[in-house]
This record gives sequence, C-alpha cells and structure tokens, in this order.
Amino acid sequence: VTTAVVVPAAGRGERLGAGVPKALVPVRGVPLLVHAVLGLAAAPSVASVVVAAPPDGVEPVRRALADALPDRPELVTVVAGGSTRADSVALGLAAVGPDVDVVLVHDAARAFAPPALVETVVAAVRRGAPAVVPGLPVPDTVRKVAEDGTAHETPDRASLRAVQTPQGFRRAVLDEAYARRSPSQPPTDDAALVEQLGVAVHVVAGSDEAFKVTRPVDLLLAEALLAAREAREAGGVQA
Ligand code: C5P
Repeated sequence: VTTAVVVPAAGRGERLGAGVPKALVPVRGVPLLVHAVLGLAAAPSVASVVVAAPPDGVEPVRRALADALPDRPELVTVVAGGSTRADSVALGLAAVGPDVDVVLVHDAARAFAPPALVETVVAAVRRGAPAVVPGLPVPDTVRKVAEDGTAHETPDRASLRAVQTPQGFRRAVLDEAYARRSPSQPPTDDAALVEQLGVAVHVVAGSDEAFKVTRPVDLLLAEALLAAREAREAGGVQA
C-alpha cells in the first residue's frame, strides 16, 4: 500500500490578517507550510506529498520545501492551487502518482498535526475504512442561529465532533468524489464530498495539536506549542 498526502496551501488567510498567504506565515521563523510538510515527512507511512501552492508562489514554495528536506528531494511535488480549497485539492489529486492507493488530504493550516495522528488515519484506511476523519469533542455549546440573530436549536453536544485533517481515503473513492463534484457547491471538507457518494465516513480520535491556524490568537498557540516541543526534545526521554 502506498500513501500520498495532498496539502491544499493556496488560501489567502484573510482572517489571520498577516498580509501574506497563510501557508507562508512564519512561526518561529519557519513558514506554516514547511512545518506541515515536515510533520508529514516524519510519518513513516507517507511516501509522497503534493502541495497546492498559491499560484504566484509555486517557485518560492518549491525552494523552501527543498531546503527544508535536503535528504528527501523526491518526497514533495508542488503544483499551483486554485481559487477554492476544493479546486486546490483537485489540482493536487491530479498530480498524485499512479501507484498510490491511499490518499490523505491535509490542510497546510493544521501545520502541527502530530505524525502519530497521520499514522492513525492511514491505519484505519488500510484496515478497510473507505473514508476516515479525525474528530474531537466540542467544548462549546453550539447553537443554530437564524438570519435575524435568534437562536433556535441547540444540538446535543455529546453527539457533535469538530472534524480535523488529515482525512484519509481509499484513492478510488476520493477520485470518484472529485470527478463528480459540482463546482457551484463547494464542500466544507473532503469527507463531506465523499459522503455524497453514499460512502460511510469513519471517525477516529483527533488531536488538540491538529488545530487549524485561522485567527491571530492561533499564532500565539502555535509559538507556545513549538516552544513546549523544543523543551521536551532538549529534556530527552524523561520529559
Ligand atoms: O481558509 P481555510 O482555513 O478553510 O483553508 C483551509 C486550507 O485550504 C488552508 O490550508 C488553505 O491554504 C487551503 N486553501 C487552498 N486553496 C484555496 C483556499 C484554501 O488550498 N483557494
């Protein structure tokens, strides 16, 4: 079984307000996308990574990733992304090699997802699940709000999960979902698209560290997480 990861990284990241595409925002001097790809490279199952970069940034992204992974020049392919996340995933998927039978899709913005989470998702697909997503319990009460601002419905929190990436798929399933997608109705994630084929989506335990860098406060969390990881590594095995 050969596993590839498609990394959509072509978003503008306007909610972050950094003035550069989100994937290129530095955390401790290293762009988010580089953090994300280093995490994937550290997962033993991952044989290749296809990055969908901002269309005007393909060359600099290619150079940054080559510099970050000098020993594995064959691992990463960089293609130009599209105007929606789904377009970027479709363009990345088109560049996945023919020998690949498990495909993960992973947001560059979830740059600190632990390699162990990647392995958990791959293992669930290899055991037979056609589609796998990591999910976490939702700490907040979630309400449905009408256009007039009034709250109508409060779903039972115990049944809700916040869904993350990497999401994993049998390759044929993801290919079919993208081949049939309607460009006028962009899906919120890849599992939602696969679900439209009637395929069951399996949920595995997510990770707090796989949070999506979206708001300025997420950058503070990212700095703190990296500092904690560095301290743990410096402390050796006993930490
Ligand atoms: O905007 P949001 O945080 O939902 O984006 C999720 C991921 O999709 C990010 O990694 C972003 O770079 C990517 N994306 C993309 N192409 C777009 C829009 C978003 O690759 N046109």
